Amino acid sequence: MRGRGGWEAIDAPLKENMANLLANKPLDTILSEAHEEGGHALKRALGPINLVTLGIGAIIGAGIFVLTGSAAAQYAGPAIVLSFVLAGVACVFAGLCYAEFASLIPIAGSAYTYGYATLGEIFAWIIGWDLILEYAFGAATVASGWSGYVLSFLQDFGIRIPARLTAAPSESLVFYNGHWEHYDRIKDTLTAAHIDWHTLPQMTGLFNLVAFIAIVLVTTILVIGIKESANFNSAIVIVKVSIVLMFIGIAGAFALKHSTQVVAHWTPFIPPNAGEFGRYGWSGIARGASVIFFAYIGFDAVSTAAQESKNPQRDMPFGILGSLVICTVLYILVSGLLTGIVPYTSLNVSDPVAVGIDATGVTWASFLVKVGAILGLATVMLVMLLGQSRVFFSMSRDGLLPEWCSAVHARFRTPWISTIFVGVFVAFFAAFVPIDILGELVSIGTLLAFVIVSAGTWILRRRRPDLPRPFKTPWVPFVPIMGVLVSAGLMASLPAATWIRLIVWLIIGMVIYFTYGQKHSKVQANLANDAEAAPARSMAD
Ligand code: ALA
Repeated sequence: MRGRGGWEAIDAPLKENMANLLANKPLDTILSEAHEEGGHALKRALGPINLVTLGIGAIIGAGIFVLTGSAAAQYAGPAIVLSFVLAGVACVFAGLCYAEFASLIPIAGSAYTYGYATLGEIFAWIIGWDLILEYAFGAATVASGWSGYVLSFLQDFGIRIPARLTAAPSESLVFYNGHWEHYDRIKDTLTAAHIDWHTLPQMTGLFNLVAFIAIVLVTTILVIGIKESANFNSAIVIVKVSIVLMFIGIAGAFALKHSTQVVAHWTPFIPPNAGEFGRYGWSGIARGASVIFFAYIGFDAVSTAAQESKNPQRDMPFGILGSLVICTVLYILVSGLLTGIVPYTSLNVSDPVAVGIDATGVTWASFLVKVGAILGLATVMLVMLLGQSRVFFSMSRDGLLPEWCSAVHARFRTPWISTIFVGVFVAFFAAFVPIDILGELVSIGTLLAFVIVSAGTWILRRRRPDLPRPFKTPWVPFVPIMGVLVSAGLMASLPAATWIRLIVWLIIGMVIYFTYGQKHSKVQANLANDAEAAPARSMAD
């Protein structure tokens, strides 16, 4: 029989290993990296306005232009406005925590590095791996959806591109109303029109060349330079925000003239629950919030540009919170007006905002709304890919990923190899994999990051209250606790299948961590050096 001493002998290395997994990256090291300058550092080119437009570039996209309609029609009715308020408040809690971290630890790794500083290496790895769901899979999901809009938009002008080159193998296309459409985009329209899609001409996709080209173009801009990327993004953001404002102006004027009709469409504002959870009523508002949460994803990506910001301590909170507040206000106005001018039951279409504009009679504007959606999605891809390459850059600097991921191009001063690597992966993924199922995986991955960043804010306040915080989250611990609870609540409302995919993804990540990351980690190497030096020191004493 093994004696007590035997167990202790086994326990000791195990405990040491556990302690190593929870090792924090020293804040002093992180802060000195954050202020690195020179040829191997990223180029500090972004001012406060660039950061706000980066945030808006990532936020306004498929969520508002597409999901608003189906979420109102199926879950919340006119109370989709309250779903936007709920999801917006959840994001503001997390956004305040991101703002504190991003000004205190202005480093490209964002949530990954915040996790390293507060919860330890294993959590940092989990969050870094999890961010791939948000940024890389987010970009692939958006690219795939984007190809559907481009196909439909070009056909409006009689321009025919081979539909098979706009969809991944096994994705279905149907011919409806003189157009080839992605089945997923119009299935609700067909159901509402009582059309069995099997009766329509169909084909399956071959290779989503449109999504592939979009990602290649965006990747090229990102490699060429951060300033070039920011300028491209800002130009498109100006156009897409103008189009959103145009909608608000036209719909607002219509609503004022036809107030009786609008009030009728808003009554009852919260349709009674239809007998199942999430179908109207208060539960429908909550379900609607978890669906349209996707519309807010992206403000956190601003924090990955921290090492490219000229004055991150001052400007990061402005970029993160400014973009979030602007988009929240726009979303509430758009969703409120949309359900006022069109009965919510007719919004379960792939282009609800264009349907809304058509209802006002200003038909020329519906063309611009479609342009807004197409341009809008382009910058979402750009900022998501930017975020992903910066997170890989930081993970590689810490040794958790191969060194080439943090190579900085001598002339462009961008993390060019990680940008190209991410771009190629995302381009092929979007071209070959049917990714409609991944939308919710993007949301759950983002929410997990929010939980960890919110918890980390409180932990660091307790552990290091002395640190100079250029931006302080108000009402700590209330705000971080709410950030954790509301994000976890939204995670809980996602389907079981999404949870299973998340768990499988994290298990794959663990395998990579234990076979590569842990062995190459610089923090672990420093711990091992310290452990070796300690006995030598005590012998010398
Ligand atoms: N928020 C981004 C969108 O709605 C992801 O497309």
